[in-house]
Amino acid sequence: MNQNATKKRAASARQSGAGSQKHPEDAVREALRPGQSVELLKALHILTRDGRLNQDSRRKLKQVEHLVQFIEKIVGELAPHAGALTLADHGAGKSYLGFILYDLLLKGQDGATVYGIETRPELVERSRALADRLGFARMRFLNIAAADAVQDAALPERIDIVTALHACDTATDDAIAFGLAKKAQAMVLVPCCQAELAARLRMNKALQLSRTPLAELWRHPLHTRELGSQLTNVLRCLYLESQGYSVTVTELVGWEHSLKNELIIARWTGHKKRSAGERLRALLDEFGLGALGPLRFAALAGTQ
Ligand SMILES: C[S@@+](CC[C@H](N)C(=O)[O-])C[C@H]1O[C@@H](n2cnc3c(N)ncnc32)[C@H](O)[C@@H]1O
Repeated sequence: MNQNATKKRAASARQSGAGSQKHPEDAVREALRPGQSVELLKALHILTRDGRLNQDSRRKLKQVEHLVQFIEKIVGELAPHAGALTLADHGAGKSYLGFILYDLLLKGQDGATVYGIETRPELVERSRALADRLGFARMRFLNIAAADAVQDAALPERIDIVTALHACDTATDDAIAFGLAKKAQAMVLVPCCQAELAARLRMNKALQLSRTPLAELWRHPLHTRELGSQLTNVLRCLYLESQGYSVTVTELVGWEHSLKNELIIARWTGHKKRSAGERLRALLDEFGLGALGPLRFAALAGTQ
């Protein structure tokens, strides 16, 4: 590169701000994987029209690619149920995750199929159009609620990997129920806020306060919400363990990027932990949440 060009790049890098001396093109090249579709990233607005990354999109890309790394490892290890890998993404939204997974990991795998499950029809239409445009032929988008996905004939009997990235409220629970029904080999979940359990804690607060000092944990509304969220994920993990999965819980990315970044990875082992089921039931009793049992942890019934 001649001296003038170098000066121009440095000036352009300074203009792009953030205190970085890096040229925007270099920053993009570093952020992308070899062969990654720039057209896709532009269509998802992760790259601007002129092919640059802004602060917001850098965060989104970092989050999704971090998740892709975990899923890449799983994809490399499992033997698909039906020969070709199937993955269902719940609460897909604009399908960032599904598209990037397909682009990076699955488009070269014979028969590998991604299903996006999303309630907003305009997002489903948009994703279908984008998949058509990019020639991503084995991506399907279903305009259905996560809770209805188990019965939907457009989905195969078995699904290898279930994902749910910030699927709203109880959609993560529906994704888990789906994964159990479809005998998923892995579930990768980053839960969103969950209101159902907090609402139930709120309902019988007075009764619980007179019964146990533990109820102090959810006496104040802010604590009710936080505890509700924490307890929800604890119960989800126990449920998965009770149904034959090993579970790890980590952070998706640093807390500075998102407040909802608990990453739950469940891998099928076939070893159903009875003690996990017992603890789940004990926790439901302790917190006065018995009614949630049949609703959210249906597979526990009859396994006492
Ligand atoms: C916060 S967005 C996350 C989107 C995407 N997973 C991501 O991380 O970019 C949640 C998405 O879930 C969808 N959603 C909410 N409840 C749902 C349900 N019960 N079944 C399927 N999709 C749902 C919403 O319409 C929304 O697009």
